[in-house]
Amino acid sequence: MNNALTAPSLCGAFRNRFKIGAAITGRMTDDPDYRALIRRHFSSITAENGMKPEKLLDREATLQKGDPIRPAFHFSPADQMLSFARENEIAVRFHTLAWHNQTPRWFFAKNWDNAPDAPLAAPEVMLARLEAYIQGVMEHVNSQYPGTVYAWDVVNEAIEPDQGGPGCYRTKSLWYQTLGESFVPAAFRAARKHQAPGQKLFYNDYSTFVPAKKEALTALLQKLRADNLVDGMGMQAHLQWDKMDIAACEQAARAFGNLGLTLHITEMDIHCPFRDEAHQAQLAQCYRDYFDMLLRLNREGYDVESVSFWGVTDADTWLTYFRKEGSWPLLFTGDKDVKPAFDAVLEAAKRRI
Ligand code: G3I
Repeated sequence: MNNALTAPSLCGAFRNRFKIGAAITGRMTDDPDYRALIRRHFSSITAENGMKPEKLLDREATLQKGDPIRPAFHFSPADQMLSFARENEIAVRFHTLAWHNQTPRWFFAKNWDNAPDAPLAAPEVMLARLEAYIQGVMEHVNSQYPGTVYAWDVVNEAIEPDQGGPGCYRTKSLWYQTLGESFVPAAFRAARKHQAPGQKLFYNDYSTFVPAKKEALTALLQKLRADNLVDGMGMQAHLQWDKMDIAACEQAARAFGNLGLTLHITEMDIHCPFRDEAHQAQLAQCYRDYFDMLLRLNREGYDVESVSFWGVTDADTWLTYFRKEGSWPLLFTGDKDVKPAFDAVLEAAKRRI
């Protein structure tokens, strides 16, 4: 097998089409082999966890500050990755500002109370906190690392048809419970105010190809677009080797693209619980078909700007933990060799679709 460090550069092969990215961890930016691999193959990075509210919010310092609205931050985990990106001229997708998950409950509570059943803060307080959070993060990033972030995931996973809410909103989200659906445009309004020139604002979600979800997302994006609040749609693409429906993915991409939105594939992996040659060849075929679809859309004029994998090597995929079984879903082995899926994606770049 070929080592990743001598294989042709993936982002180089896609240079004239779209950025190629990966979700990374702070640990990787300390490791010379990961640093070299990321520099060679990726023109975009996303923090897998390091820029989420639970990593940036500092409760102790917030309590000391004594401000009921403006939280205190500790930016060091994010700074480490932003510095790595700046030094190596790699663009950053910032993930993520308003999300129900990985945001500590105390951020939604009256008086920043940490108790699991503490009463939630009033809607006007939560609106002000949402704006203060977004302002605090965007001002820090844009003043300390100008030109580094090109896309912001402003709202993540607000739609969940399974929860039966009106408009298919995720009713269990504490953002929804405190502010109702208005938290979505409010977050985008705040981000518009503090974005730097050239940055794009994204809505990001998973299973965007499921018909009920696609319809609800299209309705939401249409409204946001009419008010000039959103620039792009992030389609996560957590897929499975034996349940691929590329036609459905393509239909969803066309539906969002037809609203005039830039398209990012933000979190691509294809779960495959088998590492043998035959299954990994099938995985390669899944990637080949998916990338052919994206390249076709690009040639038709859809603005597919960036495609990111959720992880770098099979050794660091979140799927092993989430699925509670082995998973070999990415383009590089745990030993940092290239896999058949890598070759398939590289070949897709060379083919005229
Ligand atoms: O690995 C440790 C394990 O050693 C420990 O025993 C266990 C105890 O909780 O935790 C394990 O870490 C978990 C980690 O995933 C492993 O990858 C964390 O608990 C868990 O919280 C963490 O999950 C993250 C997840 O977001 C949480 O929501 C994943 O890293 C991260 O990949 C995932 O990313 C999300 C995107 O932000 C949004 N879209 C979906 C995507 C996948 O869920």
